[in-house]
Amino acid sequence: APPVLLPLPTAPASACLLLMLLALPLAAPSCPMLCTCYSSPPTVSCQANNFSSVPLSLPPSTQRLFLQNNLIRTLRPGTFGSNLLTLWLFSNNLSTIYPGTFRHLQALEELDLGDNRHLRSLEPDTFQGLERLQSLHLYRCQLSSLPGNIFRGLVSLQYLYLQENSLLHLQDDLFADLANLSHLFLHGNRLRLLTEHVFRGLGSLDRLLLHGNRLQGVHRAAFRGLSRLTILYLFNNSLASLPGEALADLPSLEFLRLNANPWACDCRARPLWAWFQRARVSSSDVTCAPPRSARAETCARSARPTSRRVRPRHPRGRAAAPAATAPPTTCTGWPRPGAPRRLLGGYGGEDQRGEQTCPGAACQAPPDSRGPALSAGLPSPLLCLLLLVPHHL
Ligand SMILES: *[C@@H]1O[C@H](CO)[C@@H](O)[C@H](O)[C@H]1NC(C)=O
Ligand SMILES: *[C@@H]1O[C@H](CO)[C@@H](O)[C@H](O)[C@H]1NC(C)=O
Ligand SMILES: *[C@@H]1O[C@H](CO)[C@@H](O)[C@H](O)[C@H]1NC(C)=O
Ligand SMILES: *[C@@H]1O[C@H](CO)[C@@H](O)[C@H](O)[C@H]1NC(C)=O
Repeated sequence: APPVLLPLPTAPASACLLLMLLALPLAAPSCPMLCTCYSSPPTVSCQANNFSSVPLSLPPSTQRLFLQNNLIRTLRPGTFGSNLLTLWLFSNNLSTIYPGTFRHLQALEELDLGDNRHLRSLEPDTFQGLERLQSLHLYRCQLSSLPGNIFRGLVSLQYLYLQENSLLHLQDDLFADLANLSHLFLHGNRLRLLTEHVFRGLGSLDRLLLHGNRLQGVHRAAFRGLSRLTILYLFNNSLASLPGEALADLPSLEFLRLNANPWACDCRARPLWAWFQRARVSSSDVTCAPPRSARAETCARSARPTSRRVRPRHPRGRAAAPAATAPPTTCTGWPRPGAPRRLLGGYGGEDQRGEQTCPGAACQAPPDSRGPALSAGLPSPLLCLLLLVPHHL
């Protein structure tokens, strides 16, 4: 029997098939509707679309995913591909992040969950396995507490933004694995106490912002081990005193802001004053509230601010011995009532300059005038400028 010849495709048809086969691997992965996609690096940008959930068909090769300014409410496991390096979800309406949502994102370097005001709480293992994560943004999420192990294993983390939440308390060793952390922003929370081991493990920390909390107490060892800290902001808190030992544990400190606290101008000021005498930092003015009593006022009025100019020096120039000043046992150097308040506020104190106006300012309160510090209600507040060392960068 003659062989059956299968009909060959006609020439134009076979060329067409070949073209289709060639084209398939080159076809661009589909871009979700209303999003914009870029190929290098693979990026999907879906911001400001009022999305109520994450788009379903995300190209698996996506490395950067921008979903900010939507109305996304929940995040679930299986949503995100493991190639992600950058994931922005800030300014959504997240209230629930199910456990395991980020578990397979082992390449992730930046995760921004900030400004999600219904988030309120996080599961303990939310960030488990993110060993490459460098920046974690959790600001303005109305978080009132954090699970004690939430940051476990984030060994690459350098920037942790927790400001403007409602945090009341930080557990000891909350940051224990964050040996690479450089920036820790905790301002604008409701913290009252800094306990002994709260910052343990933060040997690379460069700046610690704690202003705008309700701090009343700082454990004398709270800053131990922060050997590279250069910036510490404690302004706008409720501190009447601060243990000098706590600051003495900060050998690299350059910029300190302590203003807007109800500092007491009595014996409680002595440890801080003693530290200031030795320290080489640029500090905001420290205004303290003396006990309201005839003797204290007389003391303050008769004192002369023995104003003295100190040679400007670079803040790193800590080698020279500090100038000797009067010990804090007498009421020397109190500025007269009504002296200008020099309170500094906000973030960005790196370039502040000033001059020393009042070398010997802490004052042992007369025995009969000890009482609660009065910062409010004094018509012209008595000022107690502890120290302001100049520097020129
Ligand atoms: C999102 O919703 C707001 C308020 O309803 C509306 O003004 C805005 O145009 C919407 N944006 C988009 C991209 O649909
Ligand atoms: C945001 O989420 C909250 C609760 O999670 C809900 O009550 C609110 O309506 C949501 N807002 C918008 C604009 O979807
Ligand atoms: C810590 O940071 C340094 C330099 O910034 C980097 O070389 C090192 O790999 C980091 N360590 C980890 C565990 O990421
Ligand atoms: C002080 O901090 C509180 C938050 O604790 C904030 O509401 C207030 O505006 C801050 N005050 C100043 C003068 O910065």
